[in-house]
Amino acid sequence: MLHKLSYISLLLAITVLACQNNVKLPSQSEPVLFAAHIAPIIHQNCSKCHNEDGAAPFSLIDYTDIAPKAKLIAYVTEKRLMPPWPADPSYTHFANETYLSDEQIALIKRWSEEGCLPGDTASLVQPEILVKKWRQDKPDLIVHMPMPIKVSGNNSDLFMVVKIPFELPQDTIIRAVEFVPGNKRLVHHVNTHIIQFDAAKKGNLRDGKYFINQDQTKSTQIHKELGLLNDDGTYAPMTPSVSNYLPGSQFSFYPDEIGGFRVGKKNAFYLNDMHFGPSPIEANDSSYYKIYYGHKEPKRPVKEFQIGTLGLAPVEPKLEVPANELKTFHIKFTVPTDISIVNIVPHMHLIGKRFWAYAIKPSGDTIRLIRINDWDFRWQYFYMPKTMLKVPRGSTIYVEGDFDNRASNPNNPFNPPQLIAEREGSMKTTDEMFQLIISYVPYEKGDELIVLE
Ligand code: HEC
Repeated sequence: MLHKLSYISLLLAITVLACQNNVKLPSQSEPVLFAAHIAPIIHQNCSKCHNEDGAAPFSLIDYTDIAPKAKLIAYVTEKRLMPPWPADPSYTHFANETYLSDEQIALIKRWSEEGCLPGDTASLVQPEILVKKWRQDKPDLIVHMPMPIKVSGNNSDLFMVVKIPFELPQDTIIRAVEFVPGNKRLVHHVNTHIIQFDAAKKGNLRDGKYFINQDQTKSTQIHKELGLLNDDGTYAPMTPSVSNYLPGSQFSFYPDEIGGFRVGKKNAFYLNDMHFGPSPIEANDSSYYKIYYGHKEPKRPVKEFQIGTLGLAPVEPKLEVPANELKTFHIKFTVPTDISIVNIVPHMHLIGKRFWAYAIKPSGDTIRLIRINDWDFRWQYFYMPKTMLKVPRGSTIYVEGDFDNRASNPNNPFNPPQLIAEREGSMKTTDEMFQLIISYVPYEKGDELIVLE
């Protein structure tokens, strides 16, 4: 007699084979077909990560990618593990939302149970065309790191400050900058600024080091050691936050004339914070940037309010979570002018549990921003409202967050639990942070009608 476990794997194997070989299993009166019903759901919600260049470890594009994984797909969608979408869709919707309806989940399950019928797969769009759609248009320029960064296999976080010089033949309008992680498993987050040198004040862009370990260098020495100063020792102008990357985040363009900036001939990306997660084995990273030029003079550059840790408004009370406690913290910030929000980024580390943000207008009305009921450190998105979101001057933004420092929290980095706090803005994942980053442009009449994608 078969052991129970091997019986199950045998069943699984039969189903997998059945799916791969297109064998029709008995079906209900209306069969669920891959081409007609399932492919559109997967292409819409999964393939942008599940392709060769995406964040996920395997592709989900073709019937032959998907059918053998039908059971697993039915499982992860039913449990709502995939697609990862931490924001509560009953609170607010976003332009970049990936979320399956209950009907879509049931359909996937039925398809898997009915034997993964392919339907008319010949009618589907060719995968190469689909993949092209998920990748952005061709960039105008690709800028690589001058050399790979070595991440040693010592199981601890690595924080680097990095300089990546690039020269252009003439003054250029940059519409967008996209960071592409080299080692997707290790690159955790990156904040990028551009330093714009006056060619007369900077001889050699390659002076100094390309990168240094943040923990091993005095912060006052960093610019000097990286050769980021002008030749006379003064600071060159900088455009902040041209590109940021967090786990799960996806690059997108703003509408014409929003965002964008002008640069001269001599420039350097300045990654004041490039964080690699812990690794058990030595590895290299060669991340790079894609630059997209603009054709119109930028009218409204995107600015940001960062509130909470290291920001314009403090976390209250001080962000310290004693061992074995679940504690709630607040941030409160009054908006000084009329703004149109184009993006928000909630940020916490491992023991973050719940994140909720909204604004109260001077009239007393509430503007919902975001609610995350079950914070997951791995999926941190740039949430883009469906249309530009006006927040009038004098509105107060309230942020509330729970941090769970009990042993029952599976994401607790310490066992037994120990005090976890915000340590002078330490970005280590085992310390905590509580931030909301709001990207905005000054409000103009009609912004409410501008659709973001
Ligand atoms: C934002 C990117 C992203 C999207 C969108 C996404 N995935 Fe994933 N998926 C991942 C990553 C990354 C992993 C690797 C495991 C992990 O980190 O959880 C993964 C893992 C998986 C796994 C393996 C789980 C396991 O336990 O082995 C399955 C199955 C899966 N995804 C299916 C889907 C399906 C189906 C969809 C759409 C309905 C989807 N994913 C959407 C990024 C994504």
